[in-house]
Amino acid sequence: MSLLSHLSAMAGEAFASLGLPAELGEVVPSQRPELAQYQCNGAMTAAKLAGKSPRDIAEEVATALSSSTEIALADVAGPGFINLTLTDEALASWANRHSADDHLGFGTVERPMSVVVDYAGPNVAKAMHVGHLRATIIGDSLARLFAFAGHKIIRDPHFGDWGFQMGLLMAAIQERSPGLPYFDPDATEYPTRSPVTLQDLQQIYPKAAERARQDEEFSERAREATVRLQSGDPGLRALWKHMKTVSEDSQRQDFAALGVNFDLWYGESDVHDRLQTLVESLEKGGVAEESQGALVVRIDQADDNRDWPPLILKSRAGGFLYSTTDLATVQMRVDDLGADLILYVVDRRQSDHFAQVFRAARKGGIAPENVRLEHIEFGTMNSPDGKPFKTREGGVVQLGDVIDMVQEAARARLDEAHLAEEYDEAEREEIARLVGVAALKFGDLINNRSSDYVFDLDRFSSFEGKTGPYLQYAAVRIKSILAKADERGLEAGHMRAPAHETERGLILELLSLPEVLQRAIDLRAPNHVADYAHNLAGQFNRFYDECHILSEQDTLRRGSWLALAVWTLASLERLLDLLGIAVPDRM
Ligand code: ARG
Repeated sequence: MSLLSHLSAMAGEAFASLGLPAELGEVVPSQRPELAQYQCNGAMTAAKLAGKSPRDIAEEVATALSSSTEIALADVAGPGFINLTLTDEALASWANRHSADDHLGFGTVERPMSVVVDYAGPNVAKAMHVGHLRATIIGDSLARLFAFAGHKIIRDPHFGDWGFQMGLLMAAIQERSPGLPYFDPDATEYPTRSPVTLQDLQQIYPKAAERARQDEEFSERAREATVRLQSGDPGLRALWKHMKTVSEDSQRQDFAALGVNFDLWYGESDVHDRLQTLVESLEKGGVAEESQGALVVRIDQADDNRDWPPLILKSRAGGFLYSTTDLATVQMRVDDLGADLILYVVDRRQSDHFAQVFRAARKGGIAPENVRLEHIEFGTMNSPDGKPFKTREGGVVQLGDVIDMVQEAARARLDEAHLAEEYDEAEREEIARLVGVAALKFGDLINNRSSDYVFDLDRFSSFEGKTGPYLQYAAVRIKSILAKADERGLEAGHMRAPAHETERGLILELLSLPEVLQRAIDLRAPNHVADYAHNLAGQFNRFYDECHILSEQDTLRRGSWLALAVWTLASLERLLDLLGIAVPDRM
């Protein structure tokens, strides 16, 4: 149990003894640290329920709390805020309890859910680009947070490998090289080597997409190819496999560079076998209907204040679409994976798509009400000029190039700060890699996910300010303090009642970790973790400036401070890990 939940329970009991709901006892860190350490605002709500004055209720609760030996001061401020300050002994005892816990006071859930995290979403025929970066970083952090809380996590990138875009590529490749065996209806064997590289595909795809917009005849051919692929044409399937492999090879490299992993490597195509049955059952159930030659699900509702276009299940040509595979994927995740919650970490621009899919899933009984479907949307990453991040030529920036860029910047920063100078080349390279990834991830995660942000490599890679490298450095510095202590045979002991303001401040900061993680999970918002990690590092620096751990002569005091440093390091490393950031051993 965390200190804050303990205090909340105590205050809750005081409210309950007045015949009021115990939930009113919620205790939070004080908004005015100069007045108190904690506060409870329940008396204001209680007053409305009880028809009494909030100050009177607050006084009664404060008096009840004062009787606890843990509370040094409980008083009432303003209209009825209950302010609490703990005794230093109580702080020390809670500090020892939180730090001894391998979950740092953050308990695990009693009833774990199966949570599918759908993120990254790369597409066949395209290397990943900056658009996939936020999805990957935010999704990975949310998966880590939910896992830490004790939920069962299923990470799935949901590769885009089955819709109209496949048909576009097929039609374009056939036009370029009609003699390939993949297009020969009599062929029975196909080459094992891919006829196209990822570079080829990346050139072909945008041109084909552009052409389909203007050339109805070409577009028709692409639709037909989609249908042929989906209905199992062996040549097109063989060609498709090649396209998928060359794309995934590059994507896996990017994921590895970012330290991101998945439990399933499924794509849209993996639900293909369900599509026909699903569509038929929706038709039979009267959920799907025909509209202009296509098969659709109407998803508008009586209380809508805007128009909602229907979800298209099957195109006029008979092909299944992005929405169809998404709907079937909901079914697979609910029926086969037992999902209780599905988080779709995808760009805000797809919010209509997900609203359609979710509504259709409810209407068709594919996802029962107790399964939660959430679109975790986010804004765009812009250039310093405020426009979406593009190459100098105005093209889409590839993720691999971004990763190279941050690595290079990290390397330059290490040189500039004279860090890792005397290590061998391989270690320097690895440190630069970790620092680069930290710069990139933290630069993203420190922002509220729904806002746009500016990709500012200079700022992100700096060892100062709210940055990933700053936090890595802070953690490494604590490691080196502990290593020095170790060399001198100094041991960490039991944490004792704090005697310095900075020491108390650090303990109070550390004790609020469980609630910060809970907030980040509840709001699906890793920026709370990022912000908190930054504050924590700052608190440690203030403490270390004042309390000279290594030269302290009082053995008990020194042991207590070392224990505080150990706890801070464990917390910082955990927080960074939840953001997907690893800390080098030294730098
Ligand atoms: N491949 C898609 C894209 O690049 C993202 C997939 C998101 N997930 C999903 N279940 N639709 O836009």
